[in-house]
Amino acid sequence: MAKQKLKRFAEFSAYQHTFDFPYHLKGKWHAEVFKNNNPIVLELGCGKGEYTVALAHEYPEKNFIGVDIKSNRMWVGAKKALEQNKTNVCFMRALMHKISELFDAGEVDEIWITFPDPFVRIRSAKHRLTHTRFLRLYKQLLKPCGWVNFKTDSDELFAFTQNMLAHLHITPLVTDYDVHANPQAEPMLKEVRTYYENLFMGKGKKIKFTRFTLDQLTEEKAAAFEDWFEQERQKLVEAGKSTGI
Ligand SMILES: C[S@@+](CC[C@H](N)C(=O)[O-])C[C@H]1O[C@@H](n2cnc3c(N)ncnc32)[C@H](O)[C@@H]1O
Repeated sequence: MAKQKLKRFAEFSAYQHTFDFPYHLKGKWHAEVFKNNNPIVLELGCGKGEYTVALAHEYPEKNFIGVDIKSNRMWVGAKKALEQNKTNVCFMRALMHKISELFDAGEVDEIWITFPDPFVRIRSAKHRLTHTRFLRLYKQLLKPCGWVNFKTDSDELFAFTQNMLAHLHITPLVTDYDVHANPQAEPMLKEVRTYYENLFMGKGKKIKFTRFTLDQLTEEKAAAFEDWFEQERQKLVEAGKSTGI
């Protein structure tokens, strides 16, 4: 393993504001980590944590947690937060399917999902971070009316997410197909650019954004969507296609 990666792993683990699968903190983030009752905001698949750190700076009255499985990436955000003496930021190494084991019901106020891997192949669809498999988990930890903010370059993942929301009868609060060309877009959406956002913008991709709540999500609707998805998947497989939904 590269020397720099090992150094980052070690430094990340040694920081006071970083955690590794901290199951013991479930229900205790306010009391034991932030020592206040301010709202908690998560950035899922945060990579280098650009949103986590920038939002923490903009909203000092909220607490922010960057979540990713790769600590060498989160090291960048964790180091920046330390240099800026931020007390409302921390980073957690975890796998997303474990997220509801790391927070109590209603412990989280808002979620950001920034440029997740699109997993366009239908056989990998269950890994999409906006799949109902994950939305069910997010609902468990989000407060009622809690926002899910989703930003992506991927036309396929954006279309999948919109299609899925329609099946779930969830009307998005915001839908934007080209954030950087929209004069009405919220300033933070334009001003904060993640590593992958810059990469994809450099390739001419339009950046898309949607915001929704999960209040209307039910087990029945999620199951109905998954049944519909399976039927569509079968049709594509029979037609010899590996992508398309
Ligand atoms: C394409 S990168 C985007 C990183 C960052 N948000 C950005 O925009 O630059 C996707 C990130 O999600 C993380 N990730 C993907 N699936 C994950 C999972 N199931 N659990 C935890 N992290 C995951 C990866 O490690 C990676 O850092």
